[in-house]
Amino acid sequence: MREMNDGKQMQDVWTLPAIAPWEKKQGKHPTQKPLSVLSRIILASTKPNDWILDPFTGSSTTGIAANLFGRRFLGIDIEKEYLEISKKRKLEIENINIKNLYNSKILESISKRKLEI
Ligand SMILES: C[S@@+](CC[C@H](N)C(=O)[O-])C[C@H]1O[C@@H](n2cnc3c(N)ncnc32)[C@H](O)[C@@H]1O
Repeated sequence: MREMNDGKQMQDVWTLPAIAPWEKKQGKHPTQKPLSVLSRIILASTKPNDWILDPFTGSSTTGIAANLFGRRFLGIDIEKEYLEISKKRKLEIENINIKNLYNSKILESISKRKLEI
């Protein structure tokens, strides 16, 4: 966290960009969260290959952030429609060029320094 914040203690109020249009390309969830927020939380609190569970996964922003940064993910939702969006988002990042592009966009928005991840 310190490394992401120019060597200084990370504050407990974060200002990060709102969801960008590219995050909603696979469909819209009414309370979708920004990938930047979930990515920062995951990088701060988990290690590569860890499992992350989101039992209210919606469009699976947590899962996409997890997979973009080398974590494993299990998501559950009561609404099939949201699981379909989740599947599309997962398939999208199986393209390595898209995955790399999204990784760099997110890292640019969550860190003041270039991180080694
Ligand atoms: C706040 S949204 C999650 C949004 C998600 N973080 C995202 O970025 O897309 C909560 C989700 O919980 C789901 N949900 C509500 N009750 C549920 C239940 N009993 N079991 C599983 N999922 C449930 C809703 O369908 C909704 O998609």
